[in-house]
Amino acid sequence: MLKIAVLVSGGGTNLQALLDAKARGEIPHGEFVHVIASRPDAYALTRAANAGISGEVISRKSFATLEEYDAAILQALRACGAQIVVLAGFLSILGPTVIEAYRDRIINIHPALIPSFCGKGYYGLHVHEAALARGVKVTGATVHLVNEIPDGGPILSQKAVLVEEGDTPETLQRRVMEQAEWILLPQAVSDFCAGRLSVHGAWVSRK
Ligand code: GAR
Repeated sequence: MLKIAVLVSGGGTNLQALLDAKARGEIPHGEFVHVIASRPDAYALTRAANAGISGEVISRKSFATLEEYDAAILQALRACGAQIVVLAGFLSILGPTVIEAYRDRIINIHPALIPSFCGKGYYGLHVHEAALARGVKVTGATVHLVNEIPDGGPILSQKAVLVEEGDTPETLQRRVMEQAEWILLPQAVSDFCAGRLSVHGAWVSRK
């Protein structure tokens, strides 16, 4: 059983999808041990508490440098015994020390089909605003491993979602969550914990 820490920033619907999947027995080889929020008002912390999982706030603003913030995150991850880290709507920066310490063991969900609408500045609703501004007919979500390049790590899974006439960033975000994110992330975490994924450069195969 792998111990999983989840990093969040906001509403925590992806965290909820993970907790629900776990409760349904769909992540048999992983257990959620701790939630770290980048903001004190993150509703995700309430979701964690409701599921009996410890939570804490580690805010970038509380630290003078990225190095100190990075060290605090790493200390919290080690303290809870995390073996893997899931970024479930984590909209803050992760420093190089954490990325190195958890090389190929940090999973992120991004609300677009990477390499579209990703990288610096593309997070949360901004991603959907950009997709609508470009007029794409298809968008989606991507689950990937985290490396030093923002949204640049090996892709674990992707799912396409159709853009509809009259979509707003909010309606598109909701459809991408419902049709892609809440399905893809628990599946990928389950596969990862079960040792079903192997990384070969940029390509990840599923056994
Ligand atoms: C989700 O759409 C997630 O994919 C996105 O933020 C939202 C968080 O929602 N993450 C990113 O943009 C990361 N670059 P949630 O708090 O309800 O899970």
